[in-house]
Amino acid sequence: SQNLVSVEQFSNEDVMAYLKLAQAFKNGKTIELARPTFAMNLFFENSTRTHTSFEMAERRLGIQVIPFDPKTSSVTKGESLLDTLKTIQAIGVNLAVIRHPRDRYYQPLLDAGLSLSLINAGDGSGQHPSQSLLDMLTIFEEFGHFDGLKIAIVGDLAHSRVARSNMELLTQLGAKVYFGGPREWYGADFAQYGEYQEMDQLVTEMDVMMLLRVQHERLTQENNQAFDASAYHQAYGLTNERAARMPQHAIIMHPAPVNRGVELASDLVEAPQSRIFQQMTNGVYIRMAMIATVLAHQGLLSATQVEA
Ligand code: CP
Repeated sequence: SQNLVSVEQFSNEDVMAYLKLAQAFKNGKTIELARPTFAMNLFFENSTRTHTSFEMAERRLGIQVIPFDPKTSSVTKGESLLDTLKTIQAIGVNLAVIRHPRDRYYQPLLDAGLSLSLINAGDGSGQHPSQSLLDMLTIFEEFGHFDGLKIAIVGDLAHSRVARSNMELLTQLGAKVYFGGPREWYGADFAQYGEYQEMDQLVTEMDVMMLLRVQHERLTQENNQAFDASAYHQAYGLTNERAARMPQHAIIMHPAPVNRGVELASDLVEAPQSRIFQQMTNGVYIRMAMIATVLAHQGLLSATQVEA
């Protein structure tokens, strides 16, 4: 597709094509753009990994990156997101990567039939397709398949676009998803994808323990005041004691940023079973694969150049 906004767009064949193309880029594959190509990364929510790795991916593909700062843009004068996109398209931008706090912010942009490509870098508590694909790449590199893998998604489910994207894609790929964390964050929409288990049970049975950040910026002031980091860690965190009871082959994942000592013990971030930094590295290659694919749909690359 010319636009990548949700994992719901991806068939299993699409996912495997993205993973193989990302692995080819990781092994040194290069591409040749048909003409000068320009990208703009519009981040209306804070980011370190996603923003930086999209820019790294764009630069590695030879794309010129035009800076955009929401705080100094005409969005502050009331210009809509759609008019902003029409503007940058008119100026010659070929690819817009957008992160926005509003769920499904991208729908009016898709409905407008813009000719530039759009990649969703996260919408509110909705979707985070590039994070999901980099997580799939990390799991695939580890196990070589998804079928029957037991994967726990633990923590702030209610606010997590990573949880939503990953439960959908992992289930579709044949993995078995479980959930943990505060029960009040395990809603009916999660129950249809997997059962809830206590942390002490999850750690002994899972192939992958995927921890999620407690998103303080999305909690109410009241809930933030009541939040006890130490109590959370003891009840729902991956403590050192729990990590010692994981199977030998099992891995730890977290989209980051990590609240060290809350979702997991601080030293587990760098532990041998942690894949947290590998996830970040994979983020560059998976984003190269996503960008190359949408640019091929615009005719900026030949179809053969996006084959692994
Ligand atoms: N994992 C992730 O989306 O991190 P950033 O918010 O730093 O981009």
